[in-house]
Parts: sequence; structure tokens; C-alpha cells
Amino acid sequence: MDDEVRRAARAVDGARLWRRLMAMAEIGATPAGGVNRQALSIEDRAARRRLVEWAWERGYDAAQDGAANLFVHRPGSEPQLPPVLVGSHLDSQPTGGRFDGAFGVLAAFEVLEALDDAGVATRRAVEAVAWTNEEGSRFSPGAMGSAVFARRMTLGEILPVTDWDGVPLADALRDTLADLPEVPMRDRGLVPAAFLETHIEQGPRLEAEGIPVGVVTGIQGISNIHVEVIGAEAHAGTTPRRLRRDALKTAAAMVLALEDAFADGDDTVRFTVGRFDVTPSSPNTVPGHVRFTIDFRHPDPATIERLTGRIEPICQGLAGACEVRVHRKRDVPPTRFDEGTVDLLRESAKGLGIAHMDMFSGAGHDAMHLSAICPTAMVFTPCKDGISHNEAESAKPEDLAAGTRVLAAAACALAQR
Ligand code: GLV
Ligand code: MN
Ligand code: MN
Repeated sequence: MDDEVRRAARAVDGARLWRRLMAMAEIGATPAGGVNRQALSIEDRAARRRLVEWAWERGYDAAQDGAANLFVHRPGSEPQLPPVLVGSHLDSQPTGGRFDGAFGVLAAFEVLEALDDAGVATRRAVEAVAWTNEEGSRFSPGAMGSAVFARRMTLGEILPVTDWDGVPLADALRDTLADLPEVPMRDRGLVPAAFLETHIEQGPRLEAEGIPVGVVTGIQGISNIHVEVIGAEAHAGTTPRRLRRDALKTAAAMVLALEDAFADGDDTVRFTVGRFDVTPSSPNTVPGHVRFTIDFRHPDPATIERLTGRIEPICQGLAGACEVRVHRKRDVPPTRFDEGTVDLLRESAKGLGIAHMDMFSGAGHDAMHLSAICPTAMVFTPCKDGISHNEAESAKPEDLAAGTRVLAAAACALAQR
């Protein structure tokens, strides 16, 4: 490992990173110790502002693009070279934890500071990025900002998306961009030299093995589908069963049938109905409308395609007197990260004497989209009991620091190429 790379990794200040994480976790803090900082909300805007203030304090420029992706720039000595991007997301689940996303953004910021503290000048610029709406809990699908950046979606596709209260993403995006008028806009034409992301594992393996760093080789495929069941509202006291078109009863049968259809012997398929909205949601009105979400994942694209194809026939077969509409929202194919970049992470961990293991990601990440346009890889760190998407999410400062050191070493090496 070359001397500058080692110095950059050693300059990672775990205590500073932890302080920033805890300060960020104050924004949208929930009484149960988590965060509610959903995409493009007031809280998300406050988090973005905090990152920009930290950037300016340290003398870095910030910029944002039309999808409100936010970039903090540490210049390189050869400004014409494409930068190395490092980052993750600041938005959270409605009952999210303090680390999902924020760790990856603040670790990236720590990499910039570590390079400065180590007195390392890099050829390429290194940028810390916060991608917009990774979680997809407010505006579906998730990882929108990185998808637009990587040209897997267009701005035109995401602008009309509405949240569950009917607020168009276009409005929330406009207000978010306007909230940081001092941060210049830049176009989305940039193709980075490489992208690195670190994230808590969100599963139990690293903790169980007592290993602080996971080198991520890929991400399983994701399919997001919304199902609408349309019945008829009717009086609960007067309408006989035979005359009802009960959207809730019909949708419930669909969910159970889909659960069965997606069950596999080796428990590889991940099938989740995470949102189920009933209208008008009144105790004495037969429900006239239900909308539910399906999030389903698998490492094999053919299995995703085959199972996705079963959803509509199963729902139609159970629709009875109701109407059903199946909306296919997003498919992200399984991702294989660039072998050379994965190897650089392994070598970085090894050179720093940090125990590591290869792993495959069950969760989705912005890296899955970035890998479509540049060499990309990820570093995982352990989290307590593998718990995530939960306010109880927890991680140890020393593990986060170890992951960030590997990130700093790899970012430094890539920025010197
Ligand atoms: C991101 O949190 C995901 O859906 O995996
Ligand atoms: Mn995340
Ligand atoms: Mn998440």
C-alpha cells in the first residue's frame, strides 16, 4: 500500500465521524431513538443544509443537480479529470435508524477531511455525495436521485410521482432546491471515474462473524409493484354480502395468495407488502378502494421476471366483483460490482490489517445505479443484531471507523489514478 494511501486511511477520525453522525441524527429525531427524515421533507432539507454548512466550514464547495443530488467537492490537482464520487443518502424510512444512509454520506465527508488532514493532494477531485430519495418510502420507487444521475430514469419520469398525500415530487423537489439558493446548480452530464459507497450491513452476518468490514460484490435484483383494487363504498349496516364489492376483503385475499405463490423452499425470495392503504378507512363503510405495494427481490433476473409475471394473473383471479390494476413501478436488475474495484477494497482492508469478508447485498443501494456508468463497489460494516429499517438500528463507532478507513484508502488510490 503506498504511503499516501496509508496516511489518508490513518487520518480518518472515528470520533469526528461519530459526532457528525449524532448531530445529523438530531434532524428528524424520533422519541424512540430513530429518525424520520423522509425524502424532500423539511427534515431532509435541514439535513442537506447541515451537510452544506459543514462543507463550507471546511472550505469545500457544494453543488446540486436538478434531481437535488448534493455534491461536496474537494478539488484535485488535475481539474479536467473526472472525479471519484463517494456517498450514500440522507433521507430515511418513516421509522428509520440513525445510520441507514447517513453513515455513507458522513463517511464520504470524513474521507475528504482525512485527505486534507493527511496533507494528500490527489490528481482527481473527490466528492462526497448525498443522493436524493434512496428510501422510496415517501416517493416510490427509491434510489431515484442516483437512477436519474446514472440515466436509468429521466427527470421527466420522476417529476409526476406523488407521495401518499398526493404531493407531486416536482413540488417537493422545487422547494428542496430553493431551500439552498446559495448552492449552485450543475448539470447531470458528469460521468465519474468511480463510485464508492459504505453502508451498515442491515443484516446479521458481519456481527455474527466478528468481522468489521464486508466487501460487497453485488446487489440482488428488486421489483416494485403497486396493486390497486377498486370496489364500491357501501353502508356497513344495510348492504348484504352478496351486493358488496369489498376492496379490502379482496385485497387481503390477494396478499395471502401472493405470499404463498412467492414462498420458496430455500427462503431466497424476499416478498413484502409494506403499505396497504384503505379508502375511505371508516369503520362503518365497506371499503371501496385499496392500494398496496409489493417489494420483491431475488439474485436471479429470470426468477424476478417469472415471479413478477404471476402477480397480475393471481390478482385478476381473485378480483371477483372488484376491478384490479397492477402497476409495475420499477425493476432494478441484479448488480455485479466491478471486479477491479471490489479487489481494490479487499486489498485496502488487507493493507490496513482490517479483517474483511466478501458479501452480497440483500438491500438496495445507490451503488446499484452508479455501477451502470462507472466502476463501483461498496463497503459494509456491522450493525447490532442485523437490525435496520427500525428505530433501534445501532452500530459501533469503531466498526464505522474501520469501514471508513477502507473507504478512504480506496478513494485515495482511485483519485491518484
Ligand atoms: C433500501 O432501503 C432498500 O429498499 O433496500
Ligand atoms: Mn440505505
Ligand atoms: Mn434503507
